[in-house]
Amino acid sequence: MYQLKINTSRSTSQVLVGESYLNLPAYLPENRQAVIITDSHVRQYYRNMIDRYPVIEIGCGEEHKTIRTVEGIYSALLGCNADRNSFIVAVGGGIVCDVAGFAASTYMRGIPFGFVPTTLLSQVDAGVGGKNGVNFGGYKNMVGTFSQPLFVICDAGMLNTLPAKEFVSGLAEVVKAAAIKDGRLFDYLEQHAGEILAGKPDVLSHIILESVKIKAQVVEHDEREQGERRILNFGHTFGHAVELLGGVSHGEAVSVGMMIAARWSAGEGGLPADSVERIERLLKRLGLPVSTTLSAGDILQTALKDKKRESDVLRLALLESIGKAVIRPVSVCEVNEKLFRYLQNT
Ligand SMILES: NC(=O)c1ccc[n+]([C@@H]2O[C@H](COP(=O)([O-])OP(=O)(O)OC[C@H]3O[C@@H](n4cnc5c(N)ncnc54)[C@H](O)[C@@H]3O)[C@@H](O)[C@H]2O)c1
Ligand SMILES: [Zn+2]
Repeated sequence: MYQLKINTSRSTSQVLVGESYLNLPAYLPENRQAVIITDSHVRQYYRNMIDRYPVIEIGCGEEHKTIRTVEGIYSALLGCNADRNSFIVAVGGGIVCDVAGFAASTYMRGIPFGFVPTTLLSQVDAGVGGKNGVNFGGYKNMVGTFSQPLFVICDAGMLNTLPAKEFVSGLAEVVKAAAIKDGRLFDYLEQHAGEILAGKPDVLSHIILESVKIKAQVVEHDEREQGERRILNFGHTFGHAVELLGGVSHGEAVSVGMMIAARWSAGEGGLPADSVERIERLLKRLGLPVSTTLSAGDILQTALKDKKRESDVLRLALLESIGKAVIRPVSVCEVNEKLFRYLQNT
């Protein structure tokens, strides 16, 4: 078991990688009543632990990541007499963590909470970093807070029940973490791809820990996304547009987005061509797509709509090398001119 502390201006969060979810009671603060928030799929698999506590169950899927669901949670919290002495535990994927973290940080002006993330994506990404919130007005994560969970228990064993597609989707974020900040993790992923896909526990714990370290490092420097935290968007500017347009999973879309960004980094910057090939080979090996049939025009239009703010510049996270990302402002005009070139391998 590895312990990692994330220190931000206002709080410290403890991430435990390789800990069993069954040890949850050991991390609950004394003299507080714990309430679990989960979704119906996760509850069905982990009833043995979840049903020992008062439980608030939310629906599955992005359409439930709303203010309405949060209202339902507030009502249920009132219904079980939760007060400032209560403690919320989210047990679930990124949606449960985002919604529960937001509900906890606003109920009675904020009560403490912890996470037991149950998808690979939430263990390496959504559960770590203190951002939480819900979708609003057609935009993702439009309303939310920055507040850190007291603990995050990452139990790789919980990934055994996760559908394969969800697991592979989470791997895209692991590749992202390695590509932007850790060349050694990238080498490790190349060398252990088979064991990763076979779900070997110690290999999974290793890649989860290293990904969490990367996110923690970035978040500690820039909790509120003023600068460096933007490198975590590698693959996401265009990836998110692909996700909105293409009916593919988040990870699959980010994989395509990372390939666009990698080709862009080589074509317009200094990323060596063989690094682009390595990224492509690794993504393919892990079962992720590296291209799309969507048009450059549609992707750009959607990426612009998705930006929430009017501006004629996109801040692209690009690679100088595998393990080193930089942020480059690129004008919409330039993207318009060049995106089609980097959409497919030429
Ligand atoms: N806050 C952040 O910093 C941050 C970062 C990245 C992503 N996110 C958010 O995370 C969300 C996506 O999270 P996700 O990919 O974990 O999706 P998810 O929460 O929808 O989980 C995926 C599916 O798997 C099921 N599931 C979860 N764990 C399981 C398990 N162990 N066994 C069986 N089934 C299980 C869920 O019920 C769900 O149906 C998005 O809303 C995204 O915006 C947030
Ligand atoms: Zn992502």
